[in-house]
Amino acid sequence: MKILGISGSIRDGSYNTAALMAAKSLLPEHIHMDIHTLRELPLYDDVLATEDPPHPVNNFRNAIAAADALLIASPEYNYSMTGVLKNALDWAATFTISNVLDQKTIAILGASRTVFGTARAQLHLRQVLHAANARVIRKPEVYIRRAQDAIGDDGILHDQRTLEKIQSLLKALITDMMKDQ
Ligand code: FNR
Repeated sequence: MKILGISGSIRDGSYNTAALMAAKSLLPEHIHMDIHTLRELPLYDDVLATEDPPHPVNNFRNAIAAADALLIASPEYNYSMTGVLKNALDWAATFTISNVLDQKTIAILGASRTVFGTARAQLHLRQVLHAANARVIRKPEVYIRRAQDAIGDDGILHDQRTLEKIQSLLKALITDMMKDQ
């Protein structure tokens, strides 16, 4: 079984990518997780989508299609998800090619430096995933507040409570993913 991890941040030292790495380390042995970078994706362009989508777009869409589920971790930028993530979701769910998020099981989480823990960004992300007809895990909601306290300078998430929350989210994700097997 395969989960695809997607970080809404392409920043070196990203707290959200660190949260995905922590999730990967918590998975049972029979579940594999790759983390796909959004760094190479061009800006969405309907002309590119209609003609011959660039390699990074095909790679990204194929990786989603091949995964049993997605785990998306996004920062909050100006009360929403990052533009990098929204752009990637538009490439995934464009009807110009096809919608690879249709009925896909997806869990979301987010880490921010503030006390809001990406709550506002996650609401927007749920709305976008609803438009794509994805199957989004509703609970638990995982907001990693003051990520700089939970994640060390080594980029490792040490905070036990946060790890437990991620573990519960993974449990819900795996349960939903198994329904399709
Ligand atoms: C932020 N940040 C931020 N944080 C937050 O809690 N709410 C917000 O609305 C914003 N807005 C925002 C806008 C922009 C343009 C930047 C660059 C940053 C701070 C954000 O939480 C912080 O940079 C995180 O460290 C980003 O996540 P990664 O890159 O560490 O995964």
